[in-house]
Amino acid sequence: MAVEYATMPSHPQLNKRGELQHLLTIEGLPRAIVTQILDTAQSFVGVSERDVKKVPLLRGKQVFNLFFENSTRTRTTFEIAAKRLSADVINLNVSTSSAAKGESLLDTIDNLAAMQADMFVVRHASSGAPYLIAQHVAEHVHVVNAGDGRHAHPTQGLLDMYTIRHFKKDFSNLRVAIVGDVLHSRVARSDIHALTTLGVPEVRVVGPKTLIPGGLEHMGVRVYHDMREGLRGVDVVIMLRLQSERMRGALLPSAQEYFKHYGLTEEKLAMAEPDCIVMHPGPMNRGVEIESAVADGPRSVILDQVTFGIAVRMAVMSILAAH
Ligand code: CP
Repeated sequence: MAVEYATMPSHPQLNKRGELQHLLTIEGLPRAIVTQILDTAQSFVGVSERDVKKVPLLRGKQVFNLFFENSTRTRTTFEIAAKRLSADVINLNVSTSSAAKGESLLDTIDNLAAMQADMFVVRHASSGAPYLIAQHVAEHVHVVNAGDGRHAHPTQGLLDMYTIRHFKKDFSNLRVAIVGDVLHSRVARSDIHALTTLGVPEVRVVGPKTLIPGGLEHMGVRVYHDMREGLRGVDVVIMLRLQSERMRGALLPSAQEYFKHYGLTEEKLAMAEPDCIVMHPGPMNRGVEIESAVADGPRSVILDQVTFGIAVRMAVMSILAAH
């Protein structure tokens, strides 16, 4: 079980001028900065459609991708995004690095900083690890949280907001349901903060009692344990994976039983608005939280999320590097 780092200062991600110095969480991020990131991402979508998919905003900068936990989408799209900004990208292979010989996280960071790192993109199984690094590095170095434990996954939250804005245009009259293992999900936490920051009037979470944390009502979120009720009239449904790697003990009877009650099928999706979009951060477990007919169906925007992730990560890195 991963260590949870104790020190997690409230908002160390803005500098004294209120600009983004690090991106660690969406919680407490001003709406103006969230909107700035989405607008900047929109301007980068066109770059990906050009013959020469490059802009020089990070030319001469070194971006270190430090993934202490597995990743397909986040690690790869950060690398593509950094390359499209003309940065030099270094992917640390953690399993063959000296971290495997017992080197501490901060010793690893000090050594990479000595190689003139300008930005660290960090995924770690321990909540708070990117905060520890952000507190430790020199002022000119930026840290991006690429997912820490069950705490936060801010760039996933931002690309989810970009996707919703792309398909729905406006946040002000939406019903959004987040379904599944909310308890262990850093994506759910980041999405809830982002949706409430952007003024979505109705955010719902749907799942079994064992997988819904207490206190969500205080964040203005409606809790449902019946999936058909939870999906009634929603405009957006965000499905979550069962995070079995973070579960302690048996929280569910079986995957089949879970699918019966909380798996997204065409029949359950019929409760939502006819133009409801279906999202999933990936990786998907087909037949556990979602059936293939929905995952590959006309309302799925799951692969659009991945594509938009490149522009959103370009936006985050270019805004950080500008200060
Ligand atoms: N959504 C997400 O974080 O996917 P990866 O684990 O593949 O990066």
